[in-house]
Amino acid sequence: MAEITVTEHLLLHQKQSPHATEQFTGLLYDLILSGKTIARRINKAGLLDLLGGTGEINVQGENVQKMDEIANRILTYRMERCGALCAMSSEENAELVRIKPEFPRGDYILIFDPLDGSSNIDVNINVGTLFSILHRPEGKRGEVSLEEVLQPGHNQAAAGYILYGPSTMFVFSTGQGVHGFTLDPGVGEFLLSHPNMRIPEQGKIYSVNEGYRKNWSAATCEAVDWFHNCETQDGTPYSSRYVGALVADFHRTLIYGGIFMYPADIKRPEGKLRLMCEAAPLAFLAEQAGGRASDGRGRIMERKPECLHSRTPLFIGSSNDVAAVEKIYAQHRHAQTDLIFTGAL
Ligand code: AHG
Ligand code: MN
Ligand code: MN
Repeated sequence: MAEITVTEHLLLHQKQSPHATEQFTGLLYDLILSGKTIARRINKAGLLDLLGGTGEINVQGENVQKMDEIANRILTYRMERCGALCAMSSEENAELVRIKPEFPRGDYILIFDPLDGSSNIDVNINVGTLFSILHRPEGKRGEVSLEEVLQPGHNQAAAGYILYGPSTMFVFSTGQGVHGFTLDPGVGEFLLSHPNMRIPEQGKIYSVNEGYRKNWSAATCEAVDWFHNCETQDGTPYSSRYVGALVADFHRTLIYGGIFMYPADIKRPEGKLRLMCEAAPLAFLAEQAGGRASDGRGRIMERKPECLHSRTPLFIGSSNDVAAVEKIYAQHRHAQTDLIFTGAL
């Protein structure tokens, strides 16, 4: 395969991609540089005493891992200087991160989860960085207001992730399909390895943390049981896979098809996953790859966030598999049994 870098790929698609402006390519360049810097730290975490927690609790109420903080610092430092942003929001920061007056500004807003799946860090299992890029609404000047940032997913100019695994990958879309690039450590560049990624319309794998079953509603139990009993297109039962890092479970689903589910439960009626920095960017990719992303009722991409850290249930992957779940929830809503939490059925 020709050695095509991310920037070349963007410029090759310049005519279709309105975002191939200098500001946008500059934004991607610094995002990629941040990813390479984070990858280098992760690859040596065990040697640099970067494993384990900091002892802090973040705005999400979760234990902050050392690598969460390092990834957040690397991204914030690099991106506030990139000259393309007017504001940022990180999963690790309670408030909007404003661009300091001494740095150049631009028209984009960057939303990111600096390290997704960080509980996997200590056991050397995949983690990732998730990002979503929004335009500042037309005609706005001066300090960015929170309202300007709280945009539904269908407004995204671009979205993607960096997956730190056996290889480091950069997967993103600007609305012209989904393209995957693999880091060649010898060259220090992400090179095109997965052009035009498409999700099969039905898969063979379902992915959910069944440990929470006793807290699920009757509708959720029925939705998950659907995959215990239905068959794949070649008549075999579905397999279960769960990495515990959304970005890794999604990447597998993007390539193999199937469905990833993180339902709401009686303890988390809005679900656990964050709408703006986790569900929305992956919903953008899923739809660009011919798949589907739902909160059980409707498109994730239609959801307008109430706040920076709004949470949402997430069902994402092959369009037929996600549609099967939406149908079950619709039947329970019709029968008004969708909010019955009867514990393990
Ligand atoms: P983060 O590390 O950014 O907090 O995200 C962790 C998320 C997501 O990556 C993963 O799918 C989910 O938490 C796993 O949650 P459970 O451990 O509750 O299954
Ligand atoms: Mn996350
Ligand atoms: Mn995180």
